[in-house]
Amino acid sequence: MPMTAPSLLTYIAAALGLQLSIAASVAWWRRSNRQPPSQGTYSAAPPRSGAWPGWREFRVERRDFADAAHTQCSFFLTPVDSAPLAAFEPGQFLTFQLPVAENRRIIRCYSLSDRPAPNHFRVTVKRVLAPSDRPDLPAGEGSRYFHEQLKAGDTVQVRAPAGRFVAVDDPRSPVVLLAGGIGITPLLCMLRSGLLAEPARQVHLFYGVRNGGELAFRDELLELVRLHANFHLHLSFSKPTAQDLLDRDYQHAGHIDVDLLRRTLPSGRHRFYVCGPPTMLASLLAGLAAWGVPPDDVHHEAFGPASLQAVPGHASAPVSSSAVGLEVVFSRSERTLVWDGAEANLLEFAERHGIPVESGCRSGSCGSCEVGLASGSVRYAEPPEREIRPGSCLLCVATPTTPLKLEV
Ligand SMILES: Cc1cc2nc3c(=O)[nH]c(=O)nc-3n(C[C@H](O)[C@H](O)[C@H](O)COP(=O)(O)OP(=O)(O)OC[C@H]3O[C@@H](n4cnc5c(N)ncnc54)[C@H](O)[C@@H]3O)c2cc1C
Ligand code: FES
Repeated sequence: MPMTAPSLLTYIAAALGLQLSIAASVAWWRRSNRQPPSQGTYSAAPPRSGAWPGWREFRVERRDFADAAHTQCSFFLTPVDSAPLAAFEPGQFLTFQLPVAENRRIIRCYSLSDRPAPNHFRVTVKRVLAPSDRPDLPAGEGSRYFHEQLKAGDTVQVRAPAGRFVAVDDPRSPVVLLAGGIGITPLLCMLRSGLLAEPARQVHLFYGVRNGGELAFRDELLELVRLHANFHLHLSFSKPTAQDLLDRDYQHAGHIDVDLLRRTLPSGRHRFYVCGPPTMLASLLAGLAAWGVPPDDVHHEAFGPASLQAVPGHASAPVSSSAVGLEVVFSRSERTLVWDGAEANLLEFAERHGIPVESGCRSGSCGSCEVGLASGSVRYAEPPEREIRPGSCLLCVATPTTPLKLEV
């Protein structure tokens, strides 16, 4: 079929983008020794080469369920402006603005679940139900919007890839990816990028789900096992069904824990990347520390407030006792409160007092919680990834150092 000038341009741009994205995958996997050491469990801020300012419209090209139980659905998104997508750092996430009701938009973050491609992103969203002890509560709003509203052909507003959960690595150390449930998404993206960039590297993926029905990306993972002798897949089922056979469908019964890692991994130094539900994060991060794994070798991603609370040291990390007693004015809400140091940051402080504040990543990357700072100054435990406008602050990573007047 003859190509028109615009489509030829689009094709060239896409081809160029593909080369850039493969190069970026390779660069990501090999970057390690040139990076400064990570601070705590975070790496240094990655380059934001694939960024665009503000919101950009994307179209849902396709949606596919990723698991047999249809609780997790992948969405393939292409930019409406057709400009090629520059590469992102595997492990990063997208921020979405979702019009869940008339006059009501919410912000949610979803990790990129496939390696960079020139013309599309893939995210995979798990449907979140009401808590089992509170079936009266409404189901998760954002995930319901994805599962029930967002169809092929629809458009959605998206912020550029962001996040610091990216590999900082030593090519000589095997990589160990520890995924629980939907926590597989950033790790699958890292896995696919890593296997492409450095096929000889030893990579272990421990992936825990309740049973085979909830196992996402089964065919994709088995194909990677078939293609890469150095990729080792360890599936753990905590509540296998009668159809799930040990050694055929999964390798370990129960949860992923440090005992399993000790029994399974060869001796030597490994780099660990953990993403999963709160209980898994809490037990594995504490277990790896107790096993003697240096903090710089352990990286994690928390998918929400409950997961963040499970991270050892989260609540106590940035609080300065000299700030206790400072007045914090929320001018639009017409509330004046006293900072008591009970929360790790101003976002959690505002939420505890019922002050509505937008949020997404809760880690200083997506910009959703940026508010005007009319007076006073704040402290960031580490420089936020997100550039902050003058006269504003990011509530999710800030604590007060003087009395504050916030425009919220
Ligand atoms: C960096 C990052 C990456 C992420 N990546 C992914 C990903 O790849 N895939 C993915 O699926 N998710 C991911 N998440 C999680 C995602 O952003 C959402 O948090 C998740 O989809 C739940 O959002 P929701 O709007 O569906 O649920 P919400 O509406 O936020 O509800 C959450 C829970 O609260 C309950 N609830 C509702 N009302 C109340 C009430 N009044 N009181 C108490 N509880 C109530 C709901 O029933 C539900 O169980 C990621 C999060 C982050 C921060
Ligand atoms: S919630 Fe993402 S920057 Fe604060």
